[in-house]
Amino acid sequence: MKFYNRFVSLFLTVRLVKLTEVPFTSTQNVKMKDVLLKDPIELEEDLKYWKIIPDLLKEAPKQPMQAWWLDGGWTGTEAIFGNEINDPEITAEEPFWLEWKTNNDTFHTMMMVGIDEKPKKYTTFKEKQYWIIVNIKGFDFLAGEYLTEYMGPDPPENKGLLRYVFLVYRQPDKLKFKEKKISSRKDIYRTNFSSKAFADKYNLGKPMAINFFRARFEY
Ligand SMILES: *[C@@H]1O[C@H](CO)[C@@H](O)[C@H](O)[C@H]1NC(C)=O
Ligand SMILES: *[C@@H]1O[C@H](CO)[C@@H](O)[C@H](O)[C@H]1NC(C)=O
Repeated sequence: MKFYNRFVSLFLTVRLVKLTEVPFTSTQNVKMKDVLLKDPIELEEDLKYWKIIPDLLKEAPKQPMQAWWLDGGWTGTEAIFGNEINDPEITAEEPFWLEWKTNNDTFHTMMMVGIDEKPKKYTTFKEKQYWIIVNIKGFDFLAGEYLTEYMGPDPPENKGLLRYVFLVYRQPDKLKFKEKKISSRKDIYRTNFSSKAFADKYNLGKPMAINFFRARFEY
């Protein structure tokens, strides 16, 4: 089914390009594969600059990860360590591609969280979950187990640029997750989330790979 969606989405993109001749629009300033070559020291600097450390993490993951969306152009739009992606149409569907360094035998958990959602004061946790896939062998995320189906960021008006973070954890093994599954159409149950509490619950340790972008409300 997911593969089917992917084909449909590729097909539509190709059609869209053909029909409307969408001009080359890409916010990226780094080539696709370069993101995975990010120096760990620079990665840490970016995480501190955008205050992912300390707002979300205490220390920097060593590795970058890659996440890019189809955008109707030829190269896609990707998260590049704090870049702005302000086109909700691009991020409305889940990224077409995720990648990180792996021996391909390990199982991973991937979470995408919003860390500036500012939920009501009484909630325990400050994050909003946008996408959670577990038991991903290597980086074959389409074959992983979707706990929380993807929802594109929907930044509230007048809140400025909000941060959205992708986190990848190494699992000790293939695991049984007991979580409420959240469909892509459901916006409830997504706030009051903590990636750390989730990771602690399943002994995932600290995230091994990361990337993030920022988005603001657009009409
Ligand atoms: C993991 O799989 C990818 C894609 O098939 C491949 O490019 C990569 O070299 C593999 N990594 C290892 C360590 O085998
Ligand atoms: C937030 O989540 C925690 C942990 O699951 C739970 O104890 C708490 O009751 C939740 N708070 C609200 C307001 O939902």
